[in-house]
Amino acid sequence: MIYLVAAIAAMAGFLFGFDEGVIAGAEAGLNKTFTMSPLIEGFMTAAVPLGALAGAVIAGRLADRFGRRRVLLGAAVIFFLGSLLASIAPSVTVLTIARLVLGIAIGVAGMVAPLYISETSDARRRGGLVATYQLAITIGIVVAYLVDYLLEALGWRWMFACGTVPAVVLFAGSLILPESPRWLALKGHAEQARGVLMRLREGDATVCEAELAGIAGTAQTPQGRWRDLASRKVRPAAVAALGLYLLQQLSGINAVIYYAPEIFKSTGFESDSAAVLATVGVGAVNVVMTVVAMRLVDRLGRRKLLFIGLTGAVLSLLTIAAVAAWGGAGWAFVSAIALMAYIGAFAVSLGPVPHIMMSEVFPLALRSMGMGIASVANWGCNFLVVLLFPVALGAFGIGGVMLFFAVVCALGLLFTLRRVPETRGVSLEEIEQRLDEGRLLEGRSG
Ligand code: BGC
Repeated sequence: MIYLVAAIAAMAGFLFGFDEGVIAGAEAGLNKTFTMSPLIEGFMTAAVPLGALAGAVIAGRLADRFGRRRVLLGAAVIFFLGSLLASIAPSVTVLTIARLVLGIAIGVAGMVAPLYISETSDARRRGGLVATYQLAITIGIVVAYLVDYLLEALGWRWMFACGTVPAVVLFAGSLILPESPRWLALKGHAEQARGVLMRLREGDATVCEAELAGIAGTAQTPQGRWRDLASRKVRPAAVAALGLYLLQQLSGINAVIYYAPEIFKSTGFESDSAAVLATVGVGAVNVVMTVVAMRLVDRLGRRKLLFIGLTGAVLSLLTIAAVAAWGGAGWAFVSAIALMAYIGAFAVSLGPVPHIMMSEVFPLALRSMGMGIASVANWGCNFLVVLLFPVALGAFGIGGVMLFFAVVCALGLLFTLRRVPETRGVSLEEIEQRLDEGRLLEGRSG
């Protein structure tokens, strides 16, 4: 039962990835249908992260008011309508509005689905099930790239229209989902909460009662205040979580995810379809390396993965910049390999680690506030990178832009060295105690 529940909720992650990725292969066709300046193209593309920013701001309140399940149902309807509108858009303005709407659904689902998964799963399986959500995002991206490749002849309208299919699956699946037992209990529906939990725990009454008592206990935890996040005590946690989230976006990942075919073409690929096929490769590497990261993150630790991944990212980005500056025709394959290496390096480090760390380092009373601020910062930087990439590409060329991202990743190494704690194998309570005693950054070599 719990796997089914998590699989349906992870469908929201799939949609998230699909709607992020689909634009990559659509861009060439869109440029033929509409005339767009680099700024207009950037804004139309970045409408998704901009909408998601708004979605992330309202998601928590919606989920508390209406329940997790109803919000997921609502997000599925918005995904459906947004995809439909994008596919029939008669102008760039309507397309931008459609993408804004899709973005809102992504922002809402991006917060509510992991919350729902973590509230319905038991402690033992929680980490793995939440990580499945990140994996679902990367699968959504690669499926979108494949759809782009296969439907190239039919055109961009069909690519966007495909987004309606997973939206219907999410809607139908959410109809059979039970409401989160934690939300039911918090709203005072104790009997319903017990009923759902019994189904989720396959009728094990002892486990069920212990969990219900735990839920009642956490409901007593007083909520913190916004300004506590900047207090001396909590600051190291806030700096680590926010810093990693900013790095995740400023490392340039979404310039690649959203514009990969354009990047391939600017490094020397001739045809649209060859560029989109290479993009499918990017998506596949992203999925495979995310699985590798899921296996390694509790063995090697967060910091080691960050060091390995960031070093790989710096080297591969510098390679692309060097090829752009000095490589002639025939060097396109070197850039392609370097771009794949960059994605692989990202997927083992800055992809999953900031999400994991964000859910670990804040004290319980400030967790949802801290996560809220970090998400808004994440979407804000995502928006800026996606908006400005076409403009920067025009002004500085692919070499200049990649050099900038390489510098950010190099700074990321320094930041990891000095500001990122090691939380591998440490319980959430122990992390909170370390923070309380000003020892969060101790044991960084662990
Ligand atoms: C990031 C997304 C990004 C994705 C790529 C996630 O960790 O939050 O912005 O598109 O990774 O796989």
